[in-house]
Amino acid sequence: MRAASAIAASPDKPLSVLTVGEVAEPELPEGWVAVEVRAASLNHHDLWSLRGVGLPGDRLPMILGCDAAGVTPEGDEVVIYPVVADSGDPRGMSLLSERFPGTLAERVAVPRDNLIPKPAGLSFLDAACLPTAWLTAYNMLVTRGRVDLASSVLVQGAGGGVATAAVVLALAMGKTVYATSRDPGKRAKIAALGAVAVEPGARLPERVDVVIESVGQPTFDHSMKCAAPGARIVVCGATGGHLATVDLRRLFAMRLELLGSVMGTLPELEALMDLLVEKDIRPVIDSIYGFSAVADAFAHLESGDVFGKVALDFLH
Ligand SMILES: NC(=O)c1ccc[n+]([C@@H]2O[C@H](COP(=O)([O-])OP(=O)(O)OC[C@H]3O[C@@H](n4cnc5c(N)ncnc54)[C@H](OP(=O)(O)O)[C@@H]3O)[C@@H](O)[C@H]2O)c1
Repeated sequence: MRAASAIAASPDKPLSVLTVGEVAEPELPEGWVAVEVRAASLNHHDLWSLRGVGLPGDRLPMILGCDAAGVTPEGDEVVIYPVVADSGDPRGMSLLSERFPGTLAERVAVPRDNLIPKPAGLSFLDAACLPTAWLTAYNMLVTRGRVDLASSVLVQGAGGGVATAAVVLALAMGKTVYATSRDPGKRAKIAALGAVAVEPGARLPERVDVVIESVGQPTFDHSMKCAAPGARIVVCGATGGHLATVDLRRLFAMRLELLGSVMGTLPELEALMDLLVEKDIRPVIDSIYGFSAVADAFAHLESGDVFGKVALDFLH
C-alpha cells in the first residue's frame, strides 16, 4: 500500500526526509482493525516528527499522520481517535505515528475501541480535520479553559489548525473572540469568521477570560497581559519557541491559571462532532490535496501560509 513516512530526522529541512512509496500492509494485534483511509489531514505534529521531535531514530521509518476518517472492513464509516494506550511510553499513551504507524497510508491499524461512527452530516474530509487540532481546541476551551464561564477569548496565531478551530468554536459558543495573526491576509480571514482580528501584541479593548496559546515564546507575554483577573491561559504548543518568561507577580496578583493541554478524550471528540452537527459548523479547510500530492501538501504546511487545515483526499 502507499504511505507517507519519515525515513530520518532533519531539524532544518524536514521535507528532505519525507518519503512517499509502497510499504507493507499494517500488522493487526488482537483487538485492532485495518481502516481504509478515505481522508486525512496534516498537523504541525507531522513536521515535528520529520524534524525528529518526539520521534527517535530507533522508530524510523515511521508512517506519519494522526488524523483520518475511513471505512472498516465491515463497511462502517468511522473517525479515528488517535490516542493509543502505550505501556512503552512514560505518558502511558502515544499518538498514532509516534510509536504505532500513522494515518497517511491507504490503510491504518487502530484499536477497535478507538473508532467513532462518523456522523452522516460530516464528510470524510471534514471529519478527518477533527481528531487532533479541533479536539485539542475543544479541550482547551471547554475542559481546561472552562469557557462556559467566560465572555471573551483571545486566540494567538490564528492561522493555525488549532487556532482557527478555537476561533470557530468560541464564536459558536457565543463568546467575543479576539485573534492575532502576523499576516494581514489572515487577519482579514479571521474577521470574516466573525472574530476581532488584531496585530500580535496589540492592546485589546478589554481583558479576556480565556487565552488559547499555541505559538509560545513570541506571543506568551501578550497572552499574560491580556488576561483578566482569574483568567485561564491554556497552552498546547510552542511553534515559535518553548522558553518564555513568566511575570510571577502578574500570575499571583491577577489570580491567573496557567494550564497545559494535550489532545482530549474520546468522549470529548464525540461531543465535538455532535457540536459541529448541532451548530452546523464545519472545520476551516485551507486546501485539499490528492494523496499523490502529499509532498506538496507538506510543503504548503511548512510554508506557514496556511489558514486552517491542510487535508488529503484519498479518493483522488
Ligand atoms: N498539545 C497538543 O495536544 C497539541 C495538539 C495540536 C497541536 N499542538 C501544537 O500546537 C501548535 C500549533 O499546531 P497547528 O497544527 O495548529 O500548527 P499550524 O497549523 O502550523 O499553526 C502555526 C501558527 O502559529 C503561528 N506561528 C508560527 N510561528 C510563529 C512565530 N514565530 N511567531 C508568531 N506566530 C507564529 C502562525 O500564526 P500566524 O501566521 O497567523 O501569525 C501559524 O498560523 C504546534 O506547535 C503543535 O505541535 C499541540
